[in-house]
Amino acid sequence: MKLLAVLSALSAVAAASDFCPTIFADLTRRQLEHFDSDVPFTIGMGAKHVPVLTLSEDGKTATIVVGNGDEEGGVWHPMKPSGDPDKVHWVTHILVKDQDGNVIVVDPIDPNGFPDNKDYVAGGIPPQIQFDVPSGVTEMTPYEFCNLHGLWVGETVAVPSTTDVLAETRATDATCGPKQWTSGSWESVHADLLRQQAAHYNPNGDAVFTEVDGKKHTPYITLDGAKGRVFVGVEGGSPIHPMIASKDGNVHWVTEIYIVDQDGTIVAMESLDPTDVSEATMEFDLSADMTSGGTTLKAYSYCNIHGLWEGPVVEVPAVEAPAVEDEVSPAEVGLNSASTSSGDLIGAVLSAAAAVAML
Ligand SMILES: [Fe+2]
Ligand SMILES: [Fe+2]
Repeated sequence: MKLLAVLSALSAVAAASDFCPTIFADLTRRQLEHFDSDVPFTIGMGAKHVPVLTLSEDGKTATIVVGNGDEEGGVWHPMKPSGDPDKVHWVTHILVKDQDGNVIVVDPIDPNGFPDNKDYVAGGIPPQIQFDVPSGVTEMTPYEFCNLHGLWVGETVAVPSTTDVLAETRATDATCGPKQWTSGSWESVHADLLRQQAAHYNPNGDAVFTEVDGKKHTPYITLDGAKGRVFVGVEGGSPIHPMIASKDGNVHWVTEIYIVDQDGTIVAMESLDPTDVSEATMEFDLSADMTSGGTTLKAYSYCNIHGLWEGPVVEVPAVEAPAVEDEVSPAEVGLNSASTSSGDLIGAVLSAAAAVAML
Protein backbone atom coordinates (compact mmCIF):
# COMPACT_ATOMS: atom_id res chain seq x y z
CA MET A 1 0.00 0.00 0.00
CA LYS A 2 2.82 2.34 0.92
CA LEU A 3 4.47 1.72 -2.45
CA LEU A 4 1.20 2.49 -4.24
CA ALA A 5 0.86 5.72 -2.27
CA VAL A 6 4.38 6.74 -3.18
CA LEU A 7 3.82 5.89 -6.85
CA SER A 8 0.58 7.83 -7.02
CA ALA A 9 2.24 10.78 -5.26
CA LEU A 10 5.04 10.68 -7.82
CA SER A 11 2.61 10.57 -10.72
CA ALA A 12 0.68 13.47 -9.15
CA VAL A 13 3.92 15.45 -9.09
CA ALA A 14 4.62 14.62 -12.74
CA ALA A 15 1.05 15.44 -13.75
CA ALA A 16 1.29 18.77 -11.98
CA SER A 17 4.02 20.06 -14.30
CA ASP A 18 2.99 22.67 -16.84
CA PHE A 19 6.23 22.12 -18.78
CA CYS A 20 4.62 20.34 -21.76
CA PRO A 21 1.66 22.72 -22.36
CA THR A 22 4.05 25.65 -21.86
CA ILE A 23 6.46 24.31 -24.52
CA PHE A 24 3.51 23.75 -26.85
CA ALA A 25 2.20 27.28 -26.19
CA ASP A 26 5.63 28.73 -26.97
CA LEU A 27 5.95 26.78 -30.23
CA THR A 28 2.49 28.08 -31.19
CA ARG A 29 3.68 31.62 -30.35
CA ARG A 30 6.78 31.14 -32.51
CA GLN A 31 4.60 29.81 -35.33
CA LEU A 32 2.64 33.06 -35.33
CA GLU A 33 5.54 35.47 -34.76
CA HIS A 34 8.22 33.86 -36.89
CA PHE A 35 6.26 31.86 -39.47
CA ASP A 36 3.23 34.12 -39.81
CA SER A 37 0.64 31.42 -39.20
CA ASP A 38 -1.85 31.07 -36.34
CA VAL A 39 -2.21 27.35 -37.02
CA PRO A 40 0.32 24.54 -37.54
CA PHE A 41 1.27 23.78 -41.15
CA THR A 42 -0.30 20.68 -42.74
CA ILE A 43 0.51 18.27 -45.57
CA GLY A 44 -0.69 20.81 -48.11
CA MET A 45 2.53 22.74 -47.39
CA GLY A 46 4.73 19.69 -48.09
CA ALA A 47 5.01 16.10 -46.89
CA LYS A 48 8.66 16.36 -45.80
CA HIS A 49 7.71 18.01 -42.50
CA VAL A 50 4.53 16.12 -41.66
CA PRO A 51 4.60 13.83 -38.60
CA VAL A 52 2.93 10.47 -39.20
CA LEU A 53 1.70 8.43 -36.23
CA THR A 54 1.16 4.68 -36.48
CA LEU A 55 0.10 2.18 -33.85
CA SER A 56 1.46 -1.29 -33.26
CA GLU A 57 -0.96 -4.13 -33.97
CA ASP A 58 -1.99 -4.42 -30.34
CA GLY A 59 -2.53 -0.66 -30.13
CA LYS A 60 -0.17 -0.30 -27.18
CA THR A 61 2.84 1.32 -28.86
CA ALA A 62 2.87 4.42 -31.03
CA THR A 63 5.60 5.43 -33.50
CA ILE A 64 5.90 8.88 -35.06
CA VAL A 65 8.14 9.53 -38.05
CA VAL A 66 8.62 12.88 -39.81
CA GLY A 67 8.43 12.93 -43.59
CA ASN A 68 7.41 10.48 -46.30
CA GLY A 69 10.67 8.72 -47.09
CA ASP A 70 8.78 5.42 -47.30
CA GLU A 71 6.89 6.64 -50.36
CA GLU A 72 8.08 6.68 -53.97
CA GLY A 73 10.04 9.92 -54.44
CA GLY A 74 9.48 10.97 -50.82
CA VAL A 75 12.04 12.12 -48.26
CA TRP A 76 12.38 12.02 -44.52
CA HIS A 77 12.97 15.35 -42.85
CA PRO A 78 16.75 15.97 -42.78
CA MET A 79 18.62 15.97 -39.48
CA LYS A 80 21.69 18.19 -39.71
CA PRO A 81 23.52 18.71 -36.43
CA SER A 82 25.97 21.61 -36.54
CA GLY A 83 27.71 24.21 -34.42
CA ASP A 84 27.21 26.64 -37.33
CA PRO A 85 24.07 28.80 -37.00
CA ASP A 86 23.81 28.91 -40.80
CA LYS A 87 23.78 25.13 -41.18
CA VAL A 88 21.91 23.62 -38.23
CA HIS A 89 18.54 22.19 -39.30
CA TRP A 90 16.53 19.54 -37.52
CA VAL A 91 13.26 18.40 -36.01
CA THR A 92 13.80 19.84 -32.53
CA HIS A 93 10.65 18.41 -30.89
CA ILE A 94 8.03 15.76 -31.54
CA LEU A 95 4.81 16.30 -29.58
CA VAL A 96 1.42 14.63 -29.13
CA LYS A 97 -2.00 15.87 -27.99
CA ASP A 98 -4.75 13.53 -26.81
CA GLN A 99 -8.49 13.61 -27.54
CA ASP A 100 -9.00 16.38 -24.98
CA GLY A 101 -6.21 18.60 -26.27
CA ASN A 102 -3.85 17.65 -23.43
CA VAL A 103 -0.20 17.64 -24.42
CA ILE A 104 0.87 14.10 -23.53
CA VAL A 105 4.29 13.92 -25.22
CA VAL A 106 7.07 16.50 -25.68
CA ASP A 107 10.35 14.92 -26.79
CA PRO A 108 13.43 17.01 -27.57
CA ILE A 109 15.21 15.24 -30.44
CA ASP A 110 18.97 14.72 -30.72
CA PRO A 111 19.92 15.62 -34.31
CA ASN A 112 22.87 13.21 -34.14
CA GLY A 113 20.57 10.20 -33.82
CA PHE A 114 19.94 9.88 -37.56
CA PRO A 115 23.34 9.67 -39.25
CA ASP A 116 22.10 8.51 -42.64
CA ASN A 117 19.68 11.34 -42.98
CA LYS A 118 21.77 14.47 -43.34
CA ASP A 119 21.38 15.20 -47.03
CA TYR A 120 17.71 15.00 -47.89
CA VAL A 121 18.16 11.47 -49.17
CA ALA A 122 15.33 9.00 -49.21
CA GLY A 123 15.99 5.88 -47.23
CA GLY A 124 18.12 6.48 -44.16
CA ILE A 125 16.59 6.64 -40.71
CA PRO A 126 13.66 9.02 -40.28
CA PRO A 127 13.45 11.37 -37.33
CA GLN A 128 11.21 9.42 -34.98
CA ILE A 129 10.04 8.57 -31.51
CA GLN A 130 8.26 5.59 -30.01
CA PHE A 131 6.21 5.49 -26.81
CA ASP A 132 3.67 3.43 -24.88
CA VAL A 133 0.12 4.66 -25.37
CA PRO A 134 -1.13 5.80 -21.95
CA SER A 135 -4.31 4.27 -20.57
CA GLY A 136 -7.44 6.28 -21.30
CA VAL A 137 -6.09 7.85 -24.47
CA THR A 138 -8.59 7.35 -27.32
CA GLU A 139 -7.13 9.69 -29.93
CA MET A 140 -3.68 11.10 -30.61
CA THR A 141 -2.58 13.94 -32.87
CA PRO A 142 1.16 14.19 -33.69
CA TYR A 143 3.04 17.48 -34.06
CA GLU A 144 6.65 18.36 -34.83
CA PHE A 145 8.69 21.55 -34.76
CA CYS A 146 11.49 22.20 -37.27
CA ASN A 147 13.94 24.90 -36.21
CA LEU A 148 13.80 26.45 -39.71
CA HIS A 149 10.26 25.67 -40.86
CA GLY A 150 7.95 25.86 -37.85
CA LEU A 151 5.17 23.80 -36.31
CA TRP A 152 3.51 20.99 -38.27
CA VAL A 153 0.56 18.72 -37.52
CA GLY A 154 -0.24 15.24 -38.83
CA GLU A 155 -3.41 13.22 -38.98
CA THR A 156 -5.25 12.29 -35.79
CA VAL A 157 -5.19 8.57 -35.10
CA ALA A 158 -7.87 6.71 -33.11
CA VAL A 159 -6.70 4.20 -30.54
CA PRO A 160 -8.82 1.04 -31.06
CA SER A 161 -11.19 0.59 -28.15
CA THR A 162 -10.90 -3.17 -28.49
CA THR A 163 -7.41 -3.11 -27.01
CA ASP A 164 -6.94 -3.52 -23.29
CA VAL A 165 -5.25 -0.11 -23.28
CA LEU A 166 -8.66 1.22 -22.33
CA ALA A 167 -9.73 -1.64 -20.12
CA GLU A 168 -8.55 -0.22 -16.81
CA THR A 169 -10.07 3.22 -16.80
CA ARG A 170 -11.36 5.99 -19.00
CA ALA A 171 -9.21 8.54 -17.19
CA THR A 172 -5.94 9.12 -18.94
CA ASP A 173 -2.80 8.34 -16.98
CA ALA A 174 -0.66 10.27 -19.43
CA THR A 175 1.92 12.41 -17.71
CA CYS A 176 4.31 14.71 -19.47
CA GLY A 177 7.10 16.47 -17.65
CA PRO A 178 10.42 18.13 -18.40
CA LYS A 179 12.86 16.28 -20.62
CA GLN A 180 16.45 17.36 -21.18
CA TRP A 181 18.50 17.70 -24.32
CA THR A 182 21.10 14.95 -24.57
CA SER A 183 24.65 16.31 -24.37
CA GLY A 184 25.15 15.41 -28.05
CA SER A 185 22.46 17.99 -28.90
CA TRP A 186 24.04 20.89 -26.98
CA GLU A 187 26.21 22.24 -29.78
CA SER A 188 23.26 22.31 -32.21
CA VAL A 189 20.95 23.86 -29.60
CA HIS A 190 23.49 26.64 -28.98
CA ALA A 191 23.94 27.21 -32.74
CA ASP A 192 20.18 27.44 -33.19
CA LEU A 193 19.84 29.94 -30.33
CA LEU A 194 22.55 32.07 -31.99
CA ARG A 195 20.61 31.78 -35.25
CA GLN A 196 17.40 32.92 -33.53
CA GLN A 197 19.28 35.76 -31.85
CA ALA A 198 20.35 37.10 -35.24
CA ALA A 199 17.00 36.45 -36.91
CA HIS A 200 14.64 37.82 -34.25
CA TYR A 201 16.31 39.62 -31.37
CA ASN A 202 19.53 41.40 -32.20
CA PRO A 203 19.43 43.48 -35.38
CA ASN A 204 23.21 43.82 -35.15
CA GLY A 205 23.80 40.15 -35.85
CA ASP A 206 24.17 37.07 -33.71
CA ALA A 207 25.95 38.90 -30.87
CA VAL A 208 24.40 37.82 -27.59
CA PHE A 209 23.18 40.35 -25.02
CA THR A 210 25.19 41.02 -21.86
CA GLU A 211 24.58 42.71 -18.51
CA VAL A 212 25.21 46.05 -20.24
CA ASP A 213 21.83 45.42 -21.92
CA GLY A 214 20.14 44.65 -18.60
CA LYS A 215 20.74 42.52 -15.51
CA LYS A 216 17.27 40.98 -15.52
CA HIS A 217 18.25 38.41 -18.17
CA THR A 218 21.93 38.02 -17.28
CA PRO A 219 23.03 34.63 -15.88
CA TYR A 220 25.49 34.97 -12.97
CA ILE A 221 27.65 32.04 -11.86
CA THR A 222 28.63 31.42 -8.24
CA LEU A 223 31.02 28.64 -7.26
CA ASP A 224 31.46 26.64 -4.09
CA GLY A 225 34.24 24.08 -4.47
CA ALA A 226 33.09 21.56 -7.05
CA LYS A 227 29.52 22.92 -7.09
CA GLY A 228 28.34 25.66 -9.40
CA ARG A 229 25.12 27.63 -9.50
CA VAL A 230 23.59 30.06 -11.99
CA PHE A 231 21.01 32.71 -11.13
CA VAL A 232 19.33 34.82 -13.82
CA GLY A 233 19.02 38.41 -12.60
CA VAL A 234 20.07 39.99 -9.32
CA GLU A 235 19.81 37.34 -6.62
CA GLY A 236 18.15 38.63 -3.48
CA GLY A 237 17.44 41.94 -5.19
CA SER A 238 15.92 43.34 -8.33
CA PRO A 239 15.38 42.76 -11.18
CA ILE A 240 15.09 39.00 -11.51
CA HIS A 241 13.69 37.19 -14.50
CA PRO A 242 10.09 35.85 -14.20
CA MET A 243 9.10 32.23 -14.80
CA ILE A 244 5.57 32.23 -16.25
CA ALA A 245 4.08 28.91 -17.30
CA SER A 246 0.75 28.78 -19.08
CA LYS A 247 -1.52 26.40 -20.94
CA ASP A 248 -3.00 29.14 -23.10
CA GLY A 249 -0.10 30.91 -24.73
CA ASN A 250 0.96 33.73 -22.43
CA VAL A 251 4.32 32.19 -21.60
CA HIS A 252 7.54 33.91 -20.60
CA TRP A 253 10.43 32.07 -19.04
CA VAL A 254 14.10 31.21 -19.22
CA THR A 255 13.93 28.07 -21.33
CA GLU A 256 17.60 27.04 -21.13
CA ILE A 257 20.66 27.82 -19.05
CA TYR A 258 24.05 26.44 -20.06
CA ILE A 259 27.73 26.73 -19.21
CA VAL A 260 30.64 27.16 -21.62
CA ASP A 261 34.32 26.83 -20.72
CA GLN A 262 37.37 28.74 -21.94
CA ASP A 263 37.62 26.50 -25.04
CA GLY A 264 34.02 27.14 -26.05
CA THR A 265 32.94 23.66 -24.97
CA ILE A 266 29.47 23.41 -23.44
CA VAL A 267 29.92 21.60 -20.13
CA ALA A 268 26.34 21.68 -18.78
CA MET A 269 22.87 22.54 -20.05
CA GLU A 270 19.41 22.41 -18.50
CA SER A 271 15.93 23.05 -19.88
CA LEU A 272 13.99 24.75 -17.09
CA ASP A 273 10.48 23.85 -15.93
CA PRO A 274 8.60 27.11 -15.19
CA THR A 275 5.92 25.35 -13.12
CA ASP A 276 5.49 26.93 -9.68
CA VAL A 277 8.90 28.59 -9.58
CA SER A 278 9.65 32.29 -9.44
CA GLU A 279 13.40 32.26 -10.17
CA ALA A 280 15.51 30.92 -13.02
CA THR A 281 18.37 28.93 -11.51
CA MET A 282 20.51 25.96 -12.39
CA GLU A 283 23.03 23.90 -10.45
CA PHE A 284 25.93 22.03 -11.99
CA ASP A 285 28.95 19.98 -10.97
CA LEU A 286 32.53 20.90 -11.78
CA SER A 287 34.77 18.06 -12.90
CA ALA A 288 38.17 17.46 -11.29
CA ASP A 289 39.68 18.86 -14.49
CA MET A 290 37.85 22.15 -14.04
CA THR A 291 38.96 22.57 -10.44
CA SER A 292 42.62 21.77 -11.12
CA GLY A 293 43.35 25.32 -12.29
CA GLY A 294 43.20 27.35 -15.49
CA THR A 295 39.47 26.99 -16.14
CA THR A 296 37.11 29.87 -16.80
CA LEU A 297 33.36 29.54 -17.23
CA LYS A 298 30.51 31.68 -18.42
CA ALA A 299 26.79 31.03 -18.48
CA TYR A 300 24.21 31.60 -21.18
CA SER A 301 20.48 32.02 -20.61
CA TYR A 302 17.77 32.00 -23.24
CA CYS A 303 14.47 33.79 -22.70
CA ASN A 304 11.67 32.72 -25.03
CA ILE A 305 10.69 36.37 -25.53
CA HIS A 306 13.97 38.29 -25.19
CA GLY A 307 16.67 36.12 -26.73
CA LEU A 308 20.15 34.94 -25.77
CA TRP A 309 22.22 36.42 -22.95
CA GLU A 310 25.67 35.73 -21.54
CA GLY A 311 27.00 36.44 -18.08
CA PRO A 312 30.41 37.56 -16.82
CA VAL A 313 33.33 35.15 -17.09
CA VAL A 314 34.33 33.58 -13.78
CA GLU A 315 37.65 31.99 -12.97
CA VAL A 316 37.42 28.60 -11.28
CA PRO A 317 39.73 28.54 -8.23
CA ALA A 318 41.97 25.51 -8.06
CA VAL A 319 40.71 23.15 -5.37
CA GLU A 320 43.48 21.43 -3.46
CA ALA A 321 43.23 17.67 -3.62
CA PRO A 322 42.61 16.15 -0.17
CA ALA A 323 45.83 14.91 1.46
CA VAL A 324 46.27 11.16 1.09
CA GLU A 325 47.17 9.29 4.29
CA ASP A 326 50.55 7.59 4.10
CA GLU A 327 50.02 3.94 3.37
CA VAL A 328 51.60 1.34 5.61
CA SER A 329 54.39 -0.28 3.61
CA PRO A 330 54.98 -4.02 3.67
CA ALA A 331 58.38 -3.42 5.28
CA GLU A 332 56.76 -1.59 8.19
CA VAL A 333 54.52 -4.55 8.98
CA GLY A 334 57.33 -7.07 8.66
CA LEU A 335 56.12 -8.53 5.39
CA ASN A 336 58.43 -9.92 2.79
CA SER A 337 57.53 -7.77 -0.18
CA ALA A 338 58.67 -10.48 -2.60
CA SER A 339 55.70 -12.71 -1.69
CA THR A 340 52.47 -10.80 -1.38
CA SER A 341 49.48 -13.07 -1.67
CA SER A 342 46.21 -11.56 -0.55
CA GLY A 343 46.21 -13.94 2.42
CA ASP A 344 49.62 -12.63 3.42
CA LEU A 345 48.46 -9.07 3.12
CA ILE A 346 45.36 -9.62 5.23
CA GLY A 347 47.40 -11.42 7.84
CA ALA A 348 49.98 -8.66 7.85
CA VAL A 349 47.37 -5.95 8.25
CA LEU A 350 45.71 -7.86 11.11
CA SER A 351 49.11 -8.28 12.80
CA ALA A 352 49.82 -4.59 12.36
CA ALA A 353 46.43 -3.71 13.81
CA ALA A 354 47.07 -6.02 16.78
CA ALA A 355 50.48 -4.41 17.29
CA VAL A 356 48.90 -0.96 17.29
CA ALA A 357 46.19 -2.10 19.72
CA MET A 358 48.87 -3.25 22.18
CA LEU A 359 50.54 0.17 22.25
FE1 LIG B 1 12.81 21.78 -41.90
FE1 LIG C 1 12.47 37.73 -20.77
